[in-house]
Amino acid sequence: MSVYTRIAPVVEIRGAVKHYQAPEGHVVRALDGIDLSVGANEFVTLLGPSGCGKTTLLRTVSGFEQLDGGELLIQNKPMNNVPAHRRPVHTVFQSYALFPHMSVGDNVGYALEVQGVGKTERRQRIGEALELVGLEGLERRKPGQLSGGQQQRVALARALIDRPALLLLDEPLSALDRQLRQSMQRELKKLQHELGIAFVFVTHDQEEALTMSDRIVILNGGLIQQIGTPTEIYDRPANAFVAGFIGESNLFDVSVVAVNAGVAQLRSEQGDVLHVPATQLQVGQKLQAMLRPEQFQLDSVGGNSAALEGIIEQTLFVGKDFEVSLRTAHGMQVKAVIRDTGRHDLHRLQPGSSLQLRYALDGVHLLDEAKQ
Ligand SMILES: Nc1ncnc2c1ncn2[C@@H]1O[C@H](COP(=O)(O)OP(=O)(O)OP(=O)(O)O)[C@@H](O)[C@H]1O
Ligand SMILES: [Mg+2]
Repeated sequence: MSVYTRIAPVVEIRGAVKHYQAPEGHVVRALDGIDLSVGANEFVTLLGPSGCGKTTLLRTVSGFEQLDGGELLIQNKPMNNVPAHRRPVHTVFQSYALFPHMSVGDNVGYALEVQGVGKTERRQRIGEALELVGLEGLERRKPGQLSGGQQQRVALARALIDRPALLLLDEPLSALDRQLRQSMQRELKKLQHELGIAFVFVTHDQEEALTMSDRIVILNGGLIQQIGTPTEIYDRPANAFVAGFIGESNLFDVSVVAVNAGVAQLRSEQGDVLHVPATQLQVGQKLQAMLRPEQFQLDSVGGNSAALEGIIEQTLFVGKDFEVSLRTAHGMQVKAVIRDTGRHDLHRLQPGSSLQLRYALDGVHLLDEAKQ
């Protein structure tokens, strides 16, 4: 339970199932039993590979698709049989989906017009919504007379004008170039915070997910792999899929070969030994051990530490960091990112040299294979 959902969830999804009959004959399990609550003013991101069910989940919440099973509540009201236009939800799409023949003002005010809001009030609220997204004064333009970033802002203003309880955003920034995308990320996050509207945001971009979200939902094959804060997902991935999907990682198949004095020895399939704190480990247990490349250091890391030793196969200079590929005597490959290396240390990173990569014992994250 996050701090947000403990107060009052805006959306509750319980056991959501959506299966498609594919024209090729088989059934696609797009959503295979999804449980998710989103709290008021929470920014939740759906992240996962192409085809994992992100868009399907948004479409069932917005009402463009019906669930085959499970329950959907928005603000505590059952929504399964409520048509899309009666749900307190709007969607912003990657493609903007603006009406090309209508002015910016008419696009933004469309929902109010449908609701029968009078012209004077409409004009005032259109002005406010455009101000919110930094487009004041452009009411009369047509979408074709705006840049991509400006069109995306119009789509955002249109979705926010009647202050929905929930805004769904399906890869809204992916058509923008990197710089614009980063400034829109900051603006969106600020806007979300100020308006107090819950956002469910879809992206392919893990960096975007890590920087923007209160919580991230990792999906694969219509199933939730993990829900957690960005640091939980990054530091303590629930399984090998999440560990591999978010960030770079070294993932070793190991078994516990010895436990003494509070330290356990783990032996990799190749024969290398890793050391970890021995909490609740038993000899013979099979696990996966994860170490992020940036957890390695050349010298002492402070506290209880150990090292993996090997020959450097490759060193790449990437800005201020060095990416080092090392192979141990047993043949295990280890990726390390060495930060803040003084230039006097450079000779230690030459390919062909022998190197010790030190790590803190309590930084090793263990994945229990039996739980997967
Ligand atoms: N109308 C449909 N008929 C049959 N299969 C569908 C239909 N819509 C989606 N699917 C399938 O359902 C699965 C989930 O699709 P969805 O669009 O939710 O994926 P996604 O996570 O949004 O992917 P992407 O990142 O590529 O946008 C995919 O395997 C897709 O092929
Ligand atoms: Mg999609």
